[in-house]
Amino acid sequence: SSAAGIQDILLGLTLDAPNSDLHDCHILTNPLDLCRLLLAQLLAEILGCEPEEAYRAIQWPNNIFNGDLTVTLPKLRPGVKPAEFVPELMKKFPKDHPLFPHPIIDGVHMRVFLSPEMLPKLFIPYILERKTSFGNNPTLGRLNSENVEERRKKLLVEFSSPNIANEFQAKHLRSTILGAFVSNIHEHMGWDVTRINYLGDWGKPIALLKVGWDKFGSHEEYKDDPVHHLLYLYHQIDELFQPEVAASRQARDEAAKNGQDEGEAQVDIESRGIYFERNTASKRLEDGEEGAVEFWKLIRDANIENYSEFYAQLGVRFDEYTGESQVKPETITEVEHLLKEKEICKESAGAWVVHMQDFGLKAGTAIIRDRNGATTYLLRDLAAVLERSRQYDFDKMIIVAGSDNSVHFTHVHHILSAMGMEELSNKIQHLKFTETTRLSDTLGTMYKPEAIIEHCEAAMLPVLEAEEEKTVLFKDNMEAIKALGISALLISELSTRTATSHSFNSIVMTTFKSGTGPELQYWYAKLVHVLDGHTASSELSDEDVDVLADDEPSSLLRIILQFPEIIRLSYQTLEPAAIVAYLSTVTEQLADCLEEGIEDDTGSKDEDEENIRIKEEKTLKPGQISLYESARIVLENGMAQLGLVPLTKL
Ligand code: ARG
Repeated sequence: SSAAGIQDILLGLTLDAPNSDLHDCHILTNPLDLCRLLLAQLLAEILGCEPEEAYRAIQWPNNIFNGDLTVTLPKLRPGVKPAEFVPELMKKFPKDHPLFPHPIIDGVHMRVFLSPEMLPKLFIPYILERKTSFGNNPTLGRLNSENVEERRKKLLVEFSSPNIANEFQAKHLRSTILGAFVSNIHEHMGWDVTRINYLGDWGKPIALLKVGWDKFGSHEEYKDDPVHHLLYLYHQIDELFQPEVAASRQARDEAAKNGQDEGEAQVDIESRGIYFERNTASKRLEDGEEGAVEFWKLIRDANIENYSEFYAQLGVRFDEYTGESQVKPETITEVEHLLKEKEICKESAGAWVVHMQDFGLKAGTAIIRDRNGATTYLLRDLAAVLERSRQYDFDKMIIVAGSDNSVHFTHVHHILSAMGMEELSNKIQHLKFTETTRLSDTLGTMYKPEAIIEHCEAAMLPVLEAEEEKTVLFKDNMEAIKALGISALLISELSTRTATSHSFNSIVMTTFKSGTGPELQYWYAKLVHVLDGHTASSELSDEDVDVLADDEPSSLLRIILQFPEIIRLSYQTLEPAAIVAYLSTVTEQLADCLEEGIEDDTGSKDEDEENIRIKEEKTLKPGQISLYESARIVLENGMAQLGLVPLTKL
């Protein structure tokens, strides 16, 4: 194919042109897919194989130093040694191919580099035309991706889900930020997304808080700061309660040692003291007694109001606040009937339990109703899942909750299957993550969620003020500091893989080092500043293209082209860390491009001088403008996936 031929293909690539009919090949949204397709067609022609087969042999090497695409040679001709066909392949590979000028054989791989002259012509218009949609792929969210007429798939994301009786914990923070990301990326991939918050607003902890309220509550202090007063009460009553909990545990252990009934030993202790008061309050609440319900409603509303403000500051929203309290009694009854009818749950010492070894697990007992007759977390969740499937008719539900919920969701999964709801069970995914440590050590007890943001903000202040160029760029005000602090917090959570633990450290997250939130905001703002007064054009002359064929700008463009690939990966794995790492690669390469030739004679950079030089650089060449605008688009879209709003847009 000639250069003109490739350009003709690309001319037809408007957003409504048909996509490739190869499976999972999205030429309209992913430049690398387009390059893979063109390469596959070429390889198929040379070797006489199916394009589909050749396509599957082409990977993305993940690092531009290893090329833009890699062909795994043994996959091209299964069963044939590469040495037997590679010489012929290389001989027949067109010399000076306009897009793939110099493939290299490296062991069992063929490394393919895209032509630096061709790339800007092909892909700068591609990116500029797609703008805020670059990186998105709405076909993935369609029930049938080949058919435009098909409806969008429905995703329910349940996340954040704090427990209203006590502090907003680290796991809730992480769930909030991850859940918002999961929702965003699915929306960008065309899914119809509903965000719900399943509050821990029922059961024993609420009852305990009611006991605390009855003992120590003050209307005045409550009026002053409801959430703070409730946290105070919770800790007061919990302090009194903990010795009883310890005694009950001890009685159980001793009974076990002596071969006596463990439950009975506990019943004795739990029928007195705060245990008794709590269980009574719990029963009143379950029975819907007026005083208990009134209290519950009051504290629920107060907390929701407080959470909402916090979420709004983080840029997170919910379509629905639901919670354990909202599960309908009818549904609970329905589930229990089914469990008993199918003999999935059995009576044991007054409680209703499921012996998990009967349902595909090695061990474990799951409690459906405790011996006081109260519903459990598990029973409520089984009913909640059923209700949601009826209300939303979702294709998939992702529940973002800490690993401490893993056993619980394994039980939910197996019990639903045992109930004959395998299909529903398979639609549910528990996105678990390891804990963020040190949040409560840092903030103490009785902190409200907004304290998390205030803490990051306070750490941000001296960092920003120490950096002159940044202070100028961000117009040093409280608004900017707050926004930077929030970005720091978001990126600190999103940059850690879900299975890796990390600690809440406001000093680390608020630096301007590569890979932090403030650094990302900085490069975005700097780009906007550099581009100020310029308009990017898709029409590039040969002279413009020459400028971009140099090493640094060409590397930047090659990295930019990977963006949709990274997004797809992150969408498949639900790992935002890949996007964060990628964006810092973009900003590092951008730094190399912007700083090229502006080092002073001694080789060291002078901040003020750099500032002046940035202004000088405003005489950018048209090619540079288009490239930097493309980089800006990628940064903005990447931030949007992650839930960050550029400071310049606030
Ligand atoms: N409130 C729970 C916790 O703090 C998280 C809720 C998880 N979702 C669910 N459907 N059970 O761990």
